[in-house]
Amino acid sequence: MHSSPTSVALAAGLLTAALSLASTAQAQVLDAAGLQKIDAAIQQLTPKIVTWRRDIHEHPELSGQEVRTAQLVADHLRRLGMDVQTGVGGTGVVGTLKGGLPGKVVALRADMDALPMPENTGLPFASKAKSSYLGKEVPVTHSCGHDAHVAMLMGAAEALAGMKATLPGTVKFIFQPAEEGAPVEPDASGKVPSFGAKAMVEAGVLKDVQAIYGLHITANLPAGTAGYRSGPLMAGSDNIHIHVEGKGGHGSSPWSAVDPIVAASQVVLGLQTVVSRQLNISKEPAVITIGQIQGGTRYNIIPDNVEMMGTLRTFDEDMRQEALKRITTTAESIAAASGAKAKVRFGPVAYPVTTNPAALTEASLPALKLAMGGKAVVIPKVSGSEDFSEFQKVVPGFFYFLGAPPKGKDFTKAPPNHSPQFDIDEDQLPVGARSLAALAVDFLHRSK
Ligand code: NI
Repeated sequence: MHSSPTSVALAAGLLTAALSLASTAQAQVLDAAGLQKIDAAIQQLTPKIVTWRRDIHEHPELSGQEVRTAQLVADHLRRLGMDVQTGVGGTGVVGTLKGGLPGKVVALRADMDALPMPENTGLPFASKAKSSYLGKEVPVTHSCGHDAHVAMLMGAAEALAGMKATLPGTVKFIFQPAEEGAPVEPDASGKVPSFGAKAMVEAGVLKDVQAIYGLHITANLPAGTAGYRSGPLMAGSDNIHIHVEGKGGHGSSPWSAVDPIVAASQVVLGLQTVVSRQLNISKEPAVITIGQIQGGTRYNIIPDNVEMMGTLRTFDEDMRQEALKRITTTAESIAAASGAKAKVRFGPVAYPVTTNPAALTEASLPALKLAMGGKAVVIPKVSGSEDFSEFQKVVPGFFYFLGAPPKGKDFTKAPPNHSPQFDIDEDQLPVGARSLAALAVDFLHRSK
């Protein structure tokens, strides 16, 4: 781990990359010497980063319950001499590193929560943790790799704290809870209190920040490769809830009832025409999925009503607004055709589109490429969602993926995030930590 082939290859590639960077007319940015300093620090820290990741992996915590993880992070940041705030937007932790020289403020973000599902990786440090979710006892697992995010950012924090004296500005380390979803059930009016990134923004975490960077680890990109794109990267997500109200009766005489099961079935099919016939998908793609239908108690009883839940994924705010309208009209009209009534509502959770602004993307790319030893590729849009988008609503933010398929596994076939078999290559942890630190230093050195 300590002297992995990746870091050796990277060191060799550094000079070439740096030379080509120096030959462009860039303003004073991260140079090879700067990156080598970061790289040396991260290499020293690699055994610790791996130990943190394994410890957090073995002790995963659900959204909003990240007490142990937050404590670990806060203790670490305090030991580094940072000004540390805890309990930010729930269990969030923010460490502020003031450099020795005046300058801008940049933030780096890691999410801390795990998922309510079993782990089936066979790792010696696999999770045996259990917790309570929606009133049931569930296994808890870091199957989205947020354990790696926390460990990498703790590493980046220690590396940057070591070069504090020469740092021109301030770096804020944001450890965010509840990225995966609302920690509580909606109240009677269908609402939930703010959580995750949104709650941290509301707590003022970005008040003095000029840009924010974050990454997501994935097993489905080549090892040590950053995947990014300018503009929309990940979908905005809206929960769809449809209540179809009919009139119950005997299954043998449907004419004297209003059957909400048949109406709901027609609504499900009708909703497929929203994307395929009603939205201009030559602009951006969109997805509508109904994932849950509940209605009825017995084979020969027509129930009074049916409940449906689904998700809308969009990459453009106008298209999102259009889709929300069309879903409502389509569901209401189809239900009305059979005398039933559809009531449509969205939320309580809606994640905006994760969008990398063109200017910040372009300005950050040389440093990202330098830190990745040239391995940064443009990837297709991702229909998953990410609440990093809440930060991007407030300040320019750049989000990218870090390829880390388990050793010996083809990245196209490796179990994806949220799979019980999801696993990563720990040799990529220092690569991720280095890229985060490099992006922050580069931003502070840049004139724009
Ligand atoms: Ni995730």
